[in-house]
Amino acid sequence: MLRRLHHDQPESFAFTPANQAWAEAQITKYPEGRQASAIIPLLWRAQEQEGWLSRPAIEGVADMLGMPYIRALEVATFYFMFQLQPVGSIAHVQVCGTTSCMIMGAEGLISVCQRKIAERAHEVSGDGKFSWEEVECLGACTNAPMVQIGKDYYEDLTEESFEKLLDDLSAGKVPVPGPQNGRFASEPKSGLTSLKDFDSGKTQYNASAQLAVDIGETVKRIDGTEVPLKAPWGDAGGRPANAPKAPEPKPAAGKPADATGATVQEAPATPTAKPAAAPTEGTGIKPSTPLPGQEELASRKGSWKYEAPAAEAAPAAEASAAAPTDADKPATLDAARDGQPDDLKQIKGVGPKLEAMLNDMGFYHFDQIASWTAREIAWVDENLTGFKGRVSRDTWVDQAKKLAAGEETEFSSRVKKGDVY
Ligand code: FES
Repeated sequence: MLRRLHHDQPESFAFTPANQAWAEAQITKYPEGRQASAIIPLLWRAQEQEGWLSRPAIEGVADMLGMPYIRALEVATFYFMFQLQPVGSIAHVQVCGTTSCMIMGAEGLISVCQRKIAERAHEVSGDGKFSWEEVECLGACTNAPMVQIGKDYYEDLTEESFEKLLDDLSAGKVPVPGPQNGRFASEPKSGLTSLKDFDSGKTQYNASAQLAVDIGETVKRIDGTEVPLKAPWGDAGGRPANAPKAPEPKPAAGKPADATGATVQEAPATPTAKPAAAPTEGTGIKPSTPLPGQEELASRKGSWKYEAPAAEAAPAAEASAAAPTDADKPATLDAARDGQPDDLKQIKGVGPKLEAMLNDMGFYHFDQIASWTAREIAWVDENLTGFKGRVSRDTWVDQAKKLAAGEETEFSSRVKKGDVY
């Protein structure tokens, strides 16, 4: 299948400030020289923001990661999860067309797409709201046929229930994901044959559908501006967010709300202006009744929140709160003593690029770094273009003190053995 960039490209791309901060935080997860490893999460974020990946978006991400454009283009064009053309403003529908779904009626779902959205896959509907494509098995074969919309699965579909699903989405409603025929999860249609004491009546929906309901936004809206995206990692990036609207009164467990078997909650009202207040961390993410492992997961999500390094980091906190000035610049050398610079790459966090940068700044030896005061650390942190905050984050001074004293660190011994390159 040919995957080419769209013929009609926007002039430019920029992450929102919140997404920019999120993206920069992702990059710090990878060791120096390996920043390109962040390519997929950054492209994905760009797609979540814009709905699809334009050439300026791909190249912008490549610039952030110091990658040649062709390498970023290779990634974006290889993975089918990246949309290379505009998609519907409400939903891009991915219809599974693999064996189980095909046997159970996927062709009928595709004909609905052709009738209600557009004749051909990847075309946007006349009203701009929908687009669709056929995809390979999405791993929900027991609930075939099914479609994925945004992050949600809609399963056990019929042509009729699928048409209603599209109508509800078009009307601004947010259908509850999961089985659309009244099944709780993937139990036999005829009823349980084992684990019969399981009481699904304790919860209305299965775990993933319940989480989607609790999040409140079960369809990924893709206009990228006005409608909040409540991604699994929360609102830490500061995207505009509304508190999730409490679901409308739910029908009794196992009793679908309409003739198709689908249950529907009203969509949160589409905001007309950005909310004034910044979102509260974790808003709308945690289910009212935590699912197994949910609290642990939520605490991990919190740790992903971007926090500015450098001046705010611990060592700098000892120094004055004022930004470093040239007066805080550490003493430098014009050249290495006796022409023998230390191998600064023995400091964890310093790679060839940073070593060259340090040498250019006049730092060649462990004892120079070991002697930096908190103010001097702040100055160097501030002046490491592209690597701000690395001195503090990777505790260079503590490492340099040991190395200057002739000791080894676990990392320096690995460097000497050639285990690090
Ligand atoms: S065949 Fe459709 S989900 Fe597996």
